[in-house]
Amino acid sequence: MKTDFKYIQKFVQEIQINELKDNALNMNKALHDKTGKGNDFLGWVNLPNELSDEFLSDIEKTAASLRQKSDFVVVIGIGGSYLGAKAAIDALSHSFRAYRSECQIVYAGQNIGEEYLFELREILKDKSFSLIVISKSGTTTEPAIAFRILKNDLEQKYGKEEARTRIVAVTDEKRGALKQLSNIEGYKTYVITDDIGGRYSVLTPVGLLPIAIAGFNIREIVAGALEMYRRTSTDVDFNQNPAAQYAAVRNILYNKGYTNEIMVNYNPKLHFLAEWWKQLYGESEGKQGKGIFPASVDFSTDLHSMGQYIQDGKRNLFETVISVSEVQQELTIPSDKDNLDQLNFLAGKRIDFINKNAELGTILAHNDGGVPIIRLEIPKLNEYYLGQLIYFFEKACGISGYMIDVNPFDQPGVEAYKRNMFALLEKPGFEGEREKLLK
Ligand code: PA5
Repeated sequence: MKTDFKYIQKFVQEIQINELKDNALNMNKALHDKTGKGNDFLGWVNLPNELSDEFLSDIEKTAASLRQKSDFVVVIGIGGSYLGAKAAIDALSHSFRAYRSECQIVYAGQNIGEEYLFELREILKDKSFSLIVISKSGTTTEPAIAFRILKNDLEQKYGKEEARTRIVAVTDEKRGALKQLSNIEGYKTYVITDDIGGRYSVLTPVGLLPIAIAGFNIREIVAGALEMYRRTSTDVDFNQNPAAQYAAVRNILYNKGYTNEIMVNYNPKLHFLAEWWKQLYGESEGKQGKGIFPASVDFSTDLHSMGQYIQDGKRNLFETVISVSEVQQELTIPSDKDNLDQLNFLAGKRIDFINKNAELGTILAHNDGGVPIIRLEIPKLNEYYLGQLIYFFEKACGISGYMIDVNPFDQPGVEAYKRNMFALLEKPGFEGEREKLLK
């Protein structure tokens, strides 16, 4: 992965970046030395270097067993317990069919849509299926609802004994309802350690197990993450450390009033990588009245919806573009004898050639319109470079959170909606809150 800061030069001076170098590197060191805020949640920092062959083999074995006996594996989880796996699987999968894998991954517990769950059950009814239930706390309402319903379906279909072999739980080592249930039922269980928060958990079984079930090479993801771990270690100079550079540039832009960052892709497979990134940065930085608001667009699709605002609206936004140098399929524009659509000037050209020109044209236009743009370039969209991107964004997020002096590893604000929802649903223990809400 390469960083390209050419399109911020009109907005950020070299000297401003130089002034922040030491700060960014010190914050990186604080992550490694565990001297900053939330230092009991830094288990992800050395993780790429700590994943053993034995651990990865065990994940692969479980994945192969579930895949072999299931038309569908339902991944049940929300937030950090779902977005990383979904981002990676979507990025690597065929757009229209479960690729390299007989078995298809579907998701539940990431919303409370009654129709969604009803329709999922309709699909599963006549198919073989298994469940992975992922919840660090083991008590989150959305996945708990989905699991209760789908576990019942599974038990009815296969009987309790076999159903147990079709459920894998990923949860806390000791605490929580899911851990308790797993102990009672004897489910195969993977642990999310106490020192890794949900949104930093892609390289734990939370992300790796679903990705392996989808048929992708988790060792390559880890290899890519390990390469980025080395490139962002404390002994690396600022000019060679892409995470420190990205964090520093974001910080300068933020302090100049660019308070909204838009993650941009020109490849629809990356839609959910941006969704994962939004959670990572939104939950890590958005607190105490501070933080860059993370948004995302899929181009060129959204040039026809958000393009006007980005070109011409309030000048408080910057873009981070993920650019994939080489696509892995080839398709050219055919020539047409009548040329009524006047596209013959493109005959023989690849679709990706057109896409790359759309990308450059848009970058130049937005830059002229007053939008600073950071480019991140990966050679190919594969497991290895995805692993690099994942660790890069995690590391830069930790540095960036420290640079605005927040704890990037907690999420106290997420509790507010839960308290209100429980009070409105008349959950025992929330009577006082209910009265206050309804008065
Ligand atoms: O990043 C986080 O910590 C959150 O998004 C959680 O992952 C999310 O709320 C799900 O929590 P849990 O895994 O405890 O069910």
